[in-house]
Amino acid sequence: MLNIIICGAPGCGKGTQSDLIVEKYTLKHLSTGDLLRNEIAKKSTLGKEAESFISKGNLVPDKMILDILSKAIDEQTKDCNGIILDGFPRNVDQAEALEELMTKLKKEVTILIDLHVDNQELIDRLLKRGETSGRSDDNMETIKKRLEVYKSKTAPVSDFYKKKNKYAAVDGMGTIDEIFGRISNIIDSKR
Ligand code: AP5
Ligand code: MG
Repeated sequence: MLNIIICGAPGCGKGTQSDLIVEKYTLKHLSTGDLLRNEIAKKSTLGKEAESFISKGNLVPDKMILDILSKAIDEQTKDCNGIILDGFPRNVDQAEALEELMTKLKKEVTILIDLHVDNQELIDRLLKRGETSGRSDDNMETIKKRLEVYKSKTAPVSDFYKKKNKYAAVDGMGTIDEIFGRISNIIDSKR
């Protein structure tokens, strides 16, 4: 089983690289951002509540994320070679909750892959995506806030996995294929 976490600042390429990883290693992609955006599109109560956090660049409450994620793991990950978690865990409390959840499911996190991308490149990618994405958080003001939240809340998750010897930093600058090559080397060393 390969249970991979892909982590990094907004716009670092988590979604883009997850699509390639899923195809090559037949894993199930679970993106908490995508799960929330599905709820927003459905106009569910949860979606409406989540949108007020997302559009401001804040994290949605942990409980909401844990409910939605454990349900998705339960429903979507039967008979697969493993999972790729994209956008989760987003703070140390979520990392601890994930450990508990994995123990309960008799699974284990294989590795956290942390994509490193320069700040200006992140902003350029997100503003470009914002021209067509329709995402309420792809604008300059919200991007700045997301980058702040990443630094204060999400970056410390790296230390959590470093202590467990389950951490790999990857240079996320360059072409999509170059970055995927770097990620594949790490995953292949864990199989
Ligand atoms: P989420 O959906 O996770 O967004 P994010 O972390 O801000 O990251 P993005 O999805 O914007 O970027 P990405 O890293 O996936 O990059 P992508 O591949 O798209 O979360 C959104 C919000 O939901 C959060 O702010 C929060 O409110 C809430 N949320 C989600 N999870 C949560 C949690 N666990 N707890 C609490 N709240 C949570 O690439 C970006 C762009 O760059 C694309 O256009 C792509 O085509 C392009 N690109 C990719 N790679 C390259 C490359 N190498 N060169 C040039 N362009 C590239
Ligand atoms: Mg994404």
